Amino acid sequence: MDTAPYSEPYKIKVVEQIKQISREERAQKIREAHYNLFLLHAEDVYVDLLTDSGTGAMSDRQWGALMEGDESYAGSRSFFAMKTAINDILGLPHVLPTHQGRAAENVLFSALIKEGDVIPGNSHFDTTKGHIEFRKASAVDCTIAQSKDPSLNHPFKGNVDLMALEQCIAQHGAGRIPMVIITITCNSGGGQPVSLENIRAVAEITKKHGIPLIFDAARFAENAYFIKTRESGCDNLTIREICHEMFTCADGCTMSSKKDAIVNMGGFIALRSEELFQACSVFNIIYEGYITYGGMSGRDMAALARGLYEGTEFDYLHSRISQTAYLGKRLVEEGIPVLHPFGGHAIYVNALEFLPHIPQEQFPAQVLGVELYIEGGVRGVEIGTVLADRDPVTRENRPPNMELLRLAIPRRVYTNNHMEVVVWALKKVWQRREQLKGLSLTFEAPIMRHFTAHFTPVSS
Ligand code: F0G
Repeated sequence: MDTAPYSEPYKIKVVEQIKQISREERAQKIREAHYNLFLLHAEDVYVDLLTDSGTGAMSDRQWGALMEGDESYAGSRSFFAMKTAINDILGLPHVLPTHQGRAAENVLFSALIKEGDVIPGNSHFDTTKGHIEFRKASAVDCTIAQSKDPSLNHPFKGNVDLMALEQCIAQHGAGRIPMVIITITCNSGGGQPVSLENIRAVAEITKKHGIPLIFDAARFAENAYFIKTRESGCDNLTIREICHEMFTCADGCTMSSKKDAIVNMGGFIALRSEELFQACSVFNIIYEGYITYGGMSGRDMAALARGLYEGTEFDYLHSRISQTAYLGKRLVEEGIPVLHPFGGHAIYVNALEFLPHIPQEQFPAQVLGVELYIEGGVRGVEIGTVLADRDPVTRENRPPNMELLRLAIPRRVYTNNHMEVVVWALKKVWQRREQLKGLSLTFEAPIMRHFTAHFTPVSS
């Protein structure tokens, strides 16, 4: 079939200059940063794929909305614009703004989670898990077994294993389970979506046991795109219709608006129950700010309202997810092992296959991230043993099943030429992979160590 190539449904009005420092300078900079990519100055990075969070490019209409932001402390017009967009797209009536996603988790969990509780879900994101464990509760991963095989092609690797969920509820009792969390798409599992069928089946289980079902909705629109393009019977639905179908199953959500709402800062909680909304409002006021701004400027809420509509347009999602797939396809062509299928927001390089001679306790995905930076000024992020952290009780490292370098693509920021730079640089690392050595930790924080850890190359 002769189909036209896709292209971005926008043109570029403003540009920001970036420049590439020399390879020698990069080797020096990463040494000074203790081999931790978070500790680099962003100016020393050429193509920054550390995260797709808060790094997107706003549209002219979003910038226009900023000027119209209402900075009133209470009852801001921009809050109501944001609330209307959330009501409209997610169908959830009660809204609390927060300054970002983890703040939404902090507020909601303060109202719902107590010591000894159990929260099942599909590979909880690290801040979600952090907020659960901080409250001396535990996160139980009920993702389907297929998610653990990086080369297996399955359209919905973020799905919840329904048997595992039922077993978890039977083992702990619904009374100790204040919520079930589904992360859409599943970031820790490789940017993998959850099917509508699976969401509905989970909702049936949670309803039966009277347990609230909460979405971690950071990338809900990308999840809807995958449902439309992969799930049978859904191709005729619009993205917004699919969003509506997904959220009909939920009792509420936490949202990091820095992802699919395409703003640089912001988040929210949206809830069905007024009672829970009242309970959360108390914590929102203590931790975030008044209930109609919760840590956000009026202008940011105005941009968020607009971003939610833009982020749920099919053409935008198609171009974004096709760019991620472009990078994945090019890496596969070069023989580089990546996780399949390609994620929505990121490509995950399989470090265990890339560097089989480096044991997990020497952080192969971190090594790969460091080398990719030295080679091309490209910054990714480790999703492996460093991120998985120590067990809060035994203080032992808890190496995960997969050791990945995530290359997350900011929204509407880079061109496919930038993706070619990433491919070129990773190919250079691939060619000298056998000479690479592991890293060892010289400093680590007691929780969430990956942000600030220091490393040194192992000597042998
Ligand atoms: N949930 C998911 C699925 C996330 O990916 C993130 C953040 C959060 C919650 C927390 O939101 O950053 O606004 O507080 N993910 C970023 C990332 C940091 O790089 O994947 P936040």
